[in-house]
Amino acid sequence: MALNAKEFINDTIKEIKKKVRKQTAICATSGGVDSMVCAFLAHRALGKKLIALFIDDGLMRQDEPQTVAKILRKHGIRTVVIPASHNFFKALKGKDDPEDMRKAFRDTFYKTLGKAVKKYRAQHLIQGTIAADVAETKGKIKSQHNVLSQIGISPKKYGLSIIEPLVTLYKPDVRKVGKALGLSKIIYQRMPFPGPGLATRVVGEVTPKRVRIVRKATQIVEKEIKRLKPFQAFAVLLSDRATGVKKGERAFGNIIVIRSVESKNAMTAQPTKVPYTILEKIQKKIIREIPEVTKVLYDLTPKPPSTIEYI
Ligand code: XMP
Repeated sequence: MALNAKEFINDTIKEIKKKVRKQTAICATSGGVDSMVCAFLAHRALGKKLIALFIDDGLMRQDEPQTVAKILRKHGIRTVVIPASHNFFKALKGKDDPEDMRKAFRDTFYKTLGKAVKKYRAQHLIQGTIAADVAETKGKIKSQHNVLSQIGISPKKYGLSIIEPLVTLYKPDVRKVGKALGLSKIIYQRMPFPGPGLATRVVGEVTPKRVRIVRKATQIVEKEIKRLKPFQAFAVLLSDRATGVKKGERAFGNIIVIRSVESKNAMTAQPTKVPYTILEKIQKKIIREIPEVTKVLYDLTPKPPSTIEYI
C-alpha cells in the first residue's frame, strides 16, 4: 500500500512525543538521507528537547561536517559537532577485515555517543534505521551499524531507550516523508551515505592518508556524475596497487574504482550506464589531481551478487 506521508508524520510525531515526554533525546546524523529526515521529524516532535549530534569521525565527505551542521542549525535544530576522528582512526588501525572494520567503527561510534548522552543527560536515542538496514543485518549480508538489537548491543548499556521512527520504511518512502516535511530537495534527494562513511569505501586499512585519497576521488565522481542523478555514486580505494607512469617515472600507485548504481531501495542495484565521455573526464581528473593514483576502473557489477559499498 502506498504510504500516506502526512499521516505517517502525524502519527510518528505523536509517538515520539509520547515516548520522550519532557525528557531529552539525541539523534546522531551522518548527513545521509535517513538520518537527516529522522532529525527533522524528531525536531518537529521535540523542538529544543532534541539535540542533533554530528560525530565528526574523520570519515565524512569533503566539507560534510560543516555543511550538515549548517543545514541543521538553519532549521533551528540544536546541533552539536563532536570532533572524534582521532579515536576512529585509532580503532581502525591495522584492521582490514570488513566486519572487523564495521565493529571497530560501531564500538567507537557508540562509545562517543555514550559520552555525549551522559554529558547532555539524554534518555532517548532517535536513530534513522530503515527497513533495508534490518533486512541486510538479519540476512547476515553485513551488520549495518545502526541495527543495535541485531548486532548484540544493548541500548541499556548506554542507559538509553531507542526510537527508530523510519524502521518500517524503504528509501523511496523516506524521501517522500522528507518531502512532506517540507525539506529542501537537496536534502531529501541526497544520495544515501552510509553511517560508517568513507570507511565502507576503503578496502584494506583505513588510515587518514587513504581516506584523504578516497575523499578527493569521491568529490570528483560526485561532481561529474551528478547530472545523471544516480541512486548512488562514489569512489572506492582498493588495497591492490598497479604500476603506472607519473611525471615520466615509474610509480606503483593506488587503484580507484568508480561506482555508480541505480536502485529503488538499495536491496538490488544496477550499474549506471555512465556515458564514456564522463568516465574519461573523471579518470583524467582523478589521475591529474590525486598523485597517489595510477589506475581508475569502472565497476559493472549489479547487486546481487555484489553489494553497493565495498566492505
Ligand atoms: P550495501 O553496500 O549493503 O548497501 O549494498 C546498501 C545501502 O546501505 C548503505 N549502507 C549503510 N548505511 N550503515 C548505514 O547507515 C551501514 O553500515 C551501511 N552499509 C551500507 C549503502 O550506502 C547503500 O545505500
